[in-house]
Amino acid sequence: MFDEILKNAPDTEPARQEFFIGEASKLLLQQTGTGKDHPSCYIATFGCQMNFRDSEKLLGILNAIGFKSAEREEDADLILMNTCTVRDNANQRIFGRLGVLKGYKKTNPALRIAMCGCMMQEPSVIEKIRKSYPYVDLIFGTHNIYRLAEYLTQVLAEGKPVIAIEDRATQVVEDLPVIRKYPYKSGVNIMYGCDNFCRYCIVPYVRGREHSREPEEILEEIRKLASDGVREVMLLGQNVNSYGKNCREEISFSELLHRVEAIDGIDRIRFMTSHPKDLSDELIAVMRDSKKICRHLHLPLQSGSSRILKLMNRHYDKEQYIDLALKIRESIPDISISTDIIIGFPTETKEDVDETLDVIRRVRFDNAFTFLYSKRTGTPAASMEGQVDAAFAGEQFDRVLQLVQETAKEQAEKWTGRETEVLVEEINEQDPHLVTGRMSNNLLVHFPGDKSDIGKILNVALTECRGFYFIGERVTKGGTK
Ligand code: 5AD
Ligand code: SF4
Repeated sequence: MFDEILKNAPDTEPARQEFFIGEASKLLLQQTGTGKDHPSCYIATFGCQMNFRDSEKLLGILNAIGFKSAEREEDADLILMNTCTVRDNANQRIFGRLGVLKGYKKTNPALRIAMCGCMMQEPSVIEKIRKSYPYVDLIFGTHNIYRLAEYLTQVLAEGKPVIAIEDRATQVVEDLPVIRKYPYKSGVNIMYGCDNFCRYCIVPYVRGREHSREPEEILEEIRKLASDGVREVMLLGQNVNSYGKNCREEISFSELLHRVEAIDGIDRIRFMTSHPKDLSDELIAVMRDSKKICRHLHLPLQSGSSRILKLMNRHYDKEQYIDLALKIRESIPDISISTDIIIGFPTETKEDVDETLDVIRRVRFDNAFTFLYSKRTGTPAASMEGQVDAAFAGEQFDRVLQLVQETAKEQAEKWTGRETEVLVEEINEQDPHLVTGRMSNNLLVHFPGDKSDIGKILNVALTECRGFYFIGERVTKGGTK
């Protein structure tokens, strides 16, 4: 039956996927009957902002096919896991969840289980799923998420598992339905993949080569988002500072930011992630002069030891990183700098970690994500001599964590008593009389408010610092933007 459907499918995108949305929809209706409630889906997303954005696209396709969103995983007729493989504990969690899903299949035999994302680009993972988790119905990778409707049509038509992995992106199709999680903010992919090959990192292997989207495509997407009520965009890429290399016109990331800034309706611009080696003075100037670019920069350090940085293939040393961070602090007062730090990279000693602590003291990170080094098969670091003892790495991790927490708290404290603009994101999870908003520098503030405040930018006085967030008071009712 699927062969028959395939014969009628258009060759070009997005028409082909639109066709399969229709076909999947018909099959779904035949299989569930009209008398029943719409079948429902649940997407479990792991990992980074890129994956969360991908999940919005996947949900858009599933909704167009006719799946409504289930509140709880256990109620869904289709569960899709969008996976991450950057560290091994992410993988373990995902295999753990797969075990739980098997139980759901017993109570709901019509349940379909699908998996996608970075983990699926690893041949060993596919092997393991085939052998140990044969009840997974659909597996696809990072380069072909736009083909979900096509794969699902095949699963529904043939009733047997489909595995569709591509080893590189042949095309990227953007014009498909998207369901955004938040009405007032959205991620926007500006580039895909990574060419840096940091020696610990699996991303270049699972996300493929770096590729920038054409500026006009990005700007058009943002204009549409703005007309749809979006006020904050987050430009997404593994290394946004090298944006534009393959574009038809010569364009830098700074120039792209300029053009995004000119779009009416967008009040806040964020971006993620910056590589220190590519962060230009031009970018610092653009941030400094901008009214819309948020006062937050995520600038992964990874290690403060120049020796380890060299082994990691990061292309900067300790002093260069510090100079860059301090230059940014000096040019853009009130900027918050967050970072990623890996502890336990092969051959790392206590003295290397002392260097990392020194950078933390000198840069005074506003926030830091600390990770224990995780050996990723296929990366150069995995086969390096001098893998570090887990207990030793754990002790070093605690030293780093303690200092980053102290520093981040002190940095946040400095804001006590000040007044600032806050974009209200949601009703506070613990106390429904409070709303939760985000400052330009990414700190969260909780203050009295209600549903009607969501999506507004309000002036808030930061009355009390509670470690990593604030309790506040709205300044004037009329202070709404
Ligand atoms: N082990 C531990 N942390 C890693 N990261 C990337 N690869 C590894 C690894 N193998 C961290 C880096 C990166 C963040 C997204 O994940 O700090 O910036
Ligand atoms: Fe991984 Fe380095 Fe690329 Fe970041 S820049 S995704 S850490 S290889």
